[in-house]
Amino acid sequence: MRTVDLIEKKAQGLELSEDEIRFIVNGYVKGDIPDYQMSAFMMAVRWHSMSAKETAALTLAMMYSGDTVDLSMLPGVKLDKHSTGGVGDTTTLAVAPLVAACGGTVAKMSGRGLGHTGGTLDKLESIPGTKVEIDEDRFIEIVKENGVAVIGQSQNLVPADKKMYALRDVTATVRSIPLIASSIMSKKLASGADAIVLDVKTGSGAFMSKKEDAVELAKAMVRIGTLMGRKVRALITDMNQPLGMAVGNALEVREAVELLSGKIPSTDPLYEVVMLLGVQMLIMAGLAENETDARSSLKAAIDSGEGLRRLQKMVELQGGDPSYLTMQNIHKLINVSKHMDVTSRKAGYISKIEAEKIGTAAQMLGAGRATKADVIDPSVGLVMKVRCGDHINLDEPICKLYVNDESRLDEAVALIRKAVHITEEPGEVNPMIYGIITEKDIL
Ligand code: URA
Ligand code: CA
Repeated sequence: MRTVDLIEKKAQGLELSEDEIRFIVNGYVKGDIPDYQMSAFMMAVRWHSMSAKETAALTLAMMYSGDTVDLSMLPGVKLDKHSTGGVGDTTTLAVAPLVAACGGTVAKMSGRGLGHTGGTLDKLESIPGTKVEIDEDRFIEIVKENGVAVIGQSQNLVPADKKMYALRDVTATVRSIPLIASSIMSKKLASGADAIVLDVKTGSGAFMSKKEDAVELAKAMVRIGTLMGRKVRALITDMNQPLGMAVGNALEVREAVELLSGKIPSTDPLYEVVMLLGVQMLIMAGLAENETDARSSLKAAIDSGEGLRRLQKMVELQGGDPSYLTMQNIHKLINVSKHMDVTSRKAGYISKIEAEKIGTAAQMLGAGRATKADVIDPSVGLVMKVRCGDHINLDEPICKLYVNDESRLDEAVALIRKAVHITEEPGEVNPMIYGIITEKDIL
């Protein structure tokens, strides 16, 4: 087989065989296939896409490029959750402990934030002492004891994805449904869970700005997981504004603690997405018959405080100080030299809050990384004061900033004002949840 012939075949829009796809992935990981050939191949994939069979073959070849995690010594259905990169998305820190409190086994390997989206690992590390680099044996012990642990992906999990993603990032080949689906699902499958709930975002702050594309991506991922004998369901959720109000690491931990303490109303979008993710997990695990049952279990885990206790215990078992994780103490995680409101320059109705810009503004304050080497300030970020559909008066706050380093403050403020669109008349507000894709929807 010659790589150039396979690139030519894909460039003509023809279907590659499993062997051919494995040849490319293995050759690239070994270093036999250079970056420029892989770049050309992935661009051909971006243009011509891939069939379901090709996408599955690509996912498997990637998955087996490194270690896979064996969770079989854990009892019951092993659950995992993945979101495709949101802004103000604190769902993992709330739903994982809630599902554990309902009897679920949540063994989650998570990624770091890059660019405008936050990463769960960075949020966890904003709690002093908390470690996310934990070896597999200890990870399994923690899940056994507490029902939930969230750690970083082990070094050698899907090396093919590390190498391919770095290349995609600089060759305009990120926004390809088969490449995103295989990237995400190879890591989820290698992480060993039996059942996976996905939260596929759509809107200005997401990989898939159009809803139809998000549905296609969700179907591709559910199809791959189902083919591999796993249970997979995907929510399609709106990213035309940040999901929660907080954007920043400790600030998002605070919002998760508020949710787990019952301080966030059930009408709140973050609450609703947490609930729906939890519902899918409990149903897939066989711990609830239907949505009504699942919701009442999750609600009970909030009301009893058991969800919060699972989060505290998880942090403790991962080396952190759980005493911060109470409504009384959570403010101690947030140490900033300056608070500041960003105010509205006109009155009207909030029609749109571009999540990507809000995420980037938080990043400018030090809450996120522009490059992998950047250091995060766990305390900084912002808390939104408005949502789409709200009315705002002149000089009323759009959001509150939590600041230490002021070097890019003006730039961040300007970007926030640009992100928030205000119209004279109230407009239509997008629903938070567009739908759920299950194994029934992939045929
Ligand atoms: N997240 C991933 O892990 N991979 C992608 O390709 C896109 C989002
Ligand atoms: Ca994420």
